[in-house]
Amino acid sequence: MRKGAGRDFHMDDYASKTPTSKVLYNRAKRVLPAGVSYGVRYFEPYPFFTAKAKGSKLWDVDGNEYVDFWLGHTALILGHSPREVVKAVEKQLENGTLYGTSHEFEIALAEQVVKMVPSAEMIRFTNSGTEANMYATRLARAFAGRDKIAKFEGGWHGGYDALHIGVKQPFGLPESAGLTHGALQDTILLPFNDLEGVEKKLKSENPASVVIEPVLGAGGVVPAEKGFLEGLRELCDRNDILLIFDEVITGFRLAPGGGQEYFGVKPDITVLGKILGGGFPIGAFCGSKKIMERVDAIAFKRPQYAFHGGTFSGNPITMVAGLTTLKMLEDGRVTRRLNRLGEKIQERLQQIFDKRDVDVQVTGVGSLFNVHFTKEKIRDALAVFRADKKKQFEFNSRMIAKGIFFLPTHCLALSRAHSKEDIDKLFRETEAYVNRFDRA
Ligand SMILES: Cc1ncc(COP(=O)(O)O)c(C=O)c1O
Repeated sequence: MRKGAGRDFHMDDYASKTPTSKVLYNRAKRVLPAGVSYGVRYFEPYPFFTAKAKGSKLWDVDGNEYVDFWLGHTALILGHSPREVVKAVEKQLENGTLYGTSHEFEIALAEQVVKMVPSAEMIRFTNSGTEANMYATRLARAFAGRDKIAKFEGGWHGGYDALHIGVKQPFGLPESAGLTHGALQDTILLPFNDLEGVEKKLKSENPASVVIEPVLGAGGVVPAEKGFLEGLRELCDRNDILLIFDEVITGFRLAPGGGQEYFGVKPDITVLGKILGGGFPIGAFCGSKKIMERVDAIAFKRPQYAFHGGTFSGNPITMVAGLTTLKMLEDGRVTRRLNRLGEKIQERLQQIFDKRDVDVQVTGVGSLFNVHFTKEKIRDALAVFRADKKKQFEFNSRMIAKGIFFLPTHCLALSRAHSKEDIDKLFRETEAYVNRFDRA
């Protein structure tokens, strides 16, 4: 990278445009730790506060407009408040927000998932991806009759103790205070995109399950390489280990049937979330009838039965929003178009950086991508951590100050609502950012 990177930093620009957000942030800090409801939403000098969202845009409390590539943690594949979902939810609001009883929409959404996701025969709904991963892990342990579980370095599956391990470098340091020794000891870490390394660990540890994101999401948008998921499937079969795909991000995004359809590999259990809720809180775990039946308290008694439940599980608002969304994704037209567009964007962004000799690797698959400031080819989360985070943050901050939002160091995602103008703006501002290296 040429000299001069880091000059011309757009923090002042951001601060002068967002005075009301600053006031709100100071107010928030008094009652919300770090002033936010989720640590990842904080960025320096303070996050802007959103007043309104529609389609591909966010507007903050000072009236600034942002093209949104973060999309509610990638959940909003149809954009903010798509009219079809709003209409369906408005109707449901009149008929009740929470029943606490069985109802037809939970069956309809379950049937829709079974129709779309290749490995799903039965499903249970939760309220978040974290919760779904927690129940999927418990189910896998119950089914296999073993305690140990395995996950990948840099894999993010939410804040559940057993999976909140080995997310960030250094992987050996606990991710959070309060994790028990039991949780730390029972979870084995595996190297991503390294089948030999995985094989060695699985042989010596014999876990109940291996959970993997087909594309590392929070770990940098790093796809599984050709043959890796197939090899992992084979290893799991050979060693009687349950393979869990965490498709909280990839589900219904890479293809109507998610990463398993896109990569052509079927897991035993799939964890879903985000897009499935149509903009409302959700998570889910699904799999074959034989595995999922362990959650059936009539068919299985203690200690064979694996518990799942929750006050808001299968609530009618989320079910209706999710069903409306999945029906719009079912024929694959939206996902195919977004994948094609995403691949073109990745190519173009890489060209913009290459043209000015800025050391950047654009990683991604289809409508999900990220920008890493490094020369090194990225195959795993370790390479992502070795990239220059300061430069990445500067790039992200400049984009935010110029009205393009994605959460610093996190991925960009596309939605049906993004227009040609939105994408052109991303290119234009990336070019403007890169051109400043010439002025050094
Ligand atoms: C792959 C993956 N799994 C699980 C989760 C946790 O989901 P939630 O934030 O809904 O608890 C996330 C959230 O970003 C995720 O990306």
